[in-house]
Amino acid sequence: MELTAEQVAQYERDGFLIFPDLFSAEEVAVLRSEVERVSRIDSEMVVREGDDGAVKIMFRLHEEDGETASTAFRAAARTSRVLRAAQQCLRDDNVYMHHSKLNMKAAIEGSAWPWHQDFHSWHLDGIAEPNMTTMTVMLTEATPMNGCMYVLPGSHEVGRTNPRWDDSTAYNLWAATPGDMKEFMSQHAEPVAITGGPGTAAIFHCNLLHASGHNLSAEDRWQIFFCFNQCKNRPTDVENPRPEYVRSQNWAPLKVAAEDGILTAS
Ligand code: SIN
Ligand code: MN
Repeated sequence: MELTAEQVAQYERDGFLIFPDLFSAEEVAVLRSEVERVSRIDSEMVVREGDDGAVKIMFRLHEEDGETASTAFRAAARTSRVLRAAQQCLRDDNVYMHHSKLNMKAAIEGSAWPWHQDFHSWHLDGIAEPNMTTMTVMLTEATPMNGCMYVLPGSHEVGRTNPRWDDSTAYNLWAATPGDMKEFMSQHAEPVAITGGPGTAAIFHCNLLHASGHNLSAEDRWQIFFCFNQCKNRPTDVENPRPEYVRSQNWAPLKVAAEDGILTAS
């Protein structure tokens, strides 16, 4: 898959693109069975919560080695649908993955992510330039009821804001302040809900303000995030770096691989 010049221009203007049904039902079924398999692994990369130990997040599914390695997710990340789109949005053919994570927002209990920009954490990882992008793929339907993501169109242009450390949610992250958010929302178009059936995907800029709500539905919401960076923008050394599974040091440029790699991995 190759994005059109219009799509790249739209990404640069709005900070995101949505791709309905980017992956087929067969591909999603393979990825979902991998989620079931990896969620049974006992690893620091499989983060659990609550009394029943339900999995909240799984990291590093895209690598060849390691406890959570998944051939199917590795193949998904290397399809042109994901990797070529990332290369085009970053306007650079030499990109690597800073991390991958799968958020399993649990039915009824799965909680909200406040408005934030991803680049704040990544800048603290030692990355200089806000030229990173994330492709997210839905493995279940995403709806307002089950806590789909919302994005604020064009908000990547505000640059890195002055966030506050928010530990009021299950996730503990650098979030935009309410004052800033009210101002940004008065200046930009209405937030857009990133909804769609399983297999739908979206790519978004690392400074795009985004959030998601509580999962009020009776079904889990599963969504994978592949976060790409330019190889030349790799992090410099920082004191107390975060673990490798969120701050990769595998800076080799990724190569586009077979489009049917998910199906042949099964
Ligand atoms: C994120 O912002 O990194 C995740 C949001 C979500 O899973 O809804
Ligand atoms: Mn985020």
